[in-house]
Amino acid sequence: MSVLIKNATLVNADASEQADVLINNGIIERIAPVISSADAEQSTTSPVEVIDASGKYLIPGGVDVHTHFNIDVGIAQSCDDFYSGTVSAACGGTTTIIDHMGFGPKGCSLHHQLERYHEYARDTAVIDYSFHGTIQHIDDSILDEMESMVFDEGISSFKLYLTYNYKLDDTDVLAALSRLNQLNALTCVHPENDGAIRFLKNRMLSQGLKDPIYHALSRPPECEAEAVGRMINLAVLAGDAPIYIVHLSNGIGLEYIRQAHQRGQSVFAETCPQYLQLDINRYNETCAGDYPTDQGLKYIMSPPLRDSDHLEQLWDGLQDGTISTVATDHCAFTMEQKRAGRDGFQYCPNGIPGVENRVPLMFSEGVMKGRLSINDFVNLVSTKPAQLFGLYPRKGVIAEGSDADLVIIDPDCEVTLSQSQMHSRSDYCPYEGMTLQGYPVMTMSRGKIIVRNGVFKGLAGDGEFVPRETLNRCFRYWTRS
Ligand code: URP
Ligand code: ZN
Ligand code: ZN
Repeated sequence: MSVLIKNATLVNADASEQADVLINNGIIERIAPVISSADAEQSTTSPVEVIDASGKYLIPGGVDVHTHFNIDVGIAQSCDDFYSGTVSAACGGTTTIIDHMGFGPKGCSLHHQLERYHEYARDTAVIDYSFHGTIQHIDDSILDEMESMVFDEGISSFKLYLTYNYKLDDTDVLAALSRLNQLNALTCVHPENDGAIRFLKNRMLSQGLKDPIYHALSRPPECEAEAVGRMINLAVLAGDAPIYIVHLSNGIGLEYIRQAHQRGQSVFAETCPQYLQLDINRYNETCAGDYPTDQGLKYIMSPPLRDSDHLEQLWDGLQDGTISTVATDHCAFTMEQKRAGRDGFQYCPNGIPGVENRVPLMFSEGVMKGRLSINDFVNLVSTKPAQLFGLYPRKGVIAEGSDADLVIIDPDCEVTLSQSQMHSRSDYCPYEGMTLQGYPVMTMSRGKIIVRNGVFKGLAGDGEFVPRETLNRCFRYWTRS
């Protein structure tokens, strides 16, 4: 089936235009002010479906570079796998995800990780996908394997943690950063100061302070900011290695990143909708009954939600370009799993669902509320992630020759978010009850319409693994746009 999308406002990161778009064999074949059905039929042997997108926006499909499907966090297994996770993504206007691999105790090789994740995703994903390697430990064989991961397997980014089980010390961070820099791969970092968290957490627990709010108070902004600052300095020591800060949640770290940009450093930052929309008061949400703190458990994630000042600072960071991308860190659990935290916040698995909410939230709260131009919105949710992670121009742009991963957004469609409409297997939506102005009404993956008016029409296994390029010279250096 070929598809002709007519009368849309086509939006890319650099410009918008009124145009028609012809899609053939999964690729964007032609973009022109007017393409007639007769013209379209002449250029293909298959039937042409014509879609009238008058009054709507056509954007490149969302690229979410931070998900955790099938993840085992030790105390729980996330409830979304590559099927439910990618269905959820597609229904929210995301057509490519990059998942952070990670499972089991430290010790396994990067290739073993990759083999396992290919098995998870191969017959289940409904949209295109890739993986970030996770540096669970450092030794010579891990450093040796990196080259073949990058050049033979198409895995051109790796994540390291400064806290949790897989935390690396500064010596190992420098070894990883230096090697990945030589390979032109991008190092992603979860920055939190592990020692400070342990100190604060032990102090709280020893005083019997176990409710969800103490999860946030044991990981204050300074813990995150210190680790952001440390990474910025270590990146210089590793020969000006480019780094990508995942899930930035606070204004102090943001300021460190801004200063690094002023010095010309390649530091890229990602934030997530939860850090822009939800504040620390969520941890005090209560419900009637025997367990009044249940509701706050929904929001236990790391880093935690912050005071409203930080939310505003993060919006500023999006507006002035200090933050390059918006991803979700989708790591979904059910309420039953989260309720392990009734005995103390430390037992609650960290993470929230959100892959379905990112594009609609950023459109409604960013574009429709006048905080972001529609082009900056496209840049944050699609183009810049595709550029930084070696998917561009196959993904992240509406251009002739690019994959026909496309999303139509109807700005007049009003949706009140509710768990009952979501496609994650989690039984709660962190944004329950929030009314959004504008919503994706069609998602197309490589030319196939997989979601129409909220109804999923794709198939498990339709998604393909996308091998990624290394950091392109053009995108290696941080620039404002
Ligand atoms: O709490 C979170 N964010 N869980 C997912 C793992 C991570 O830290 O990214
Ligand atoms: Zn993380
Ligand atoms: Zn994560």
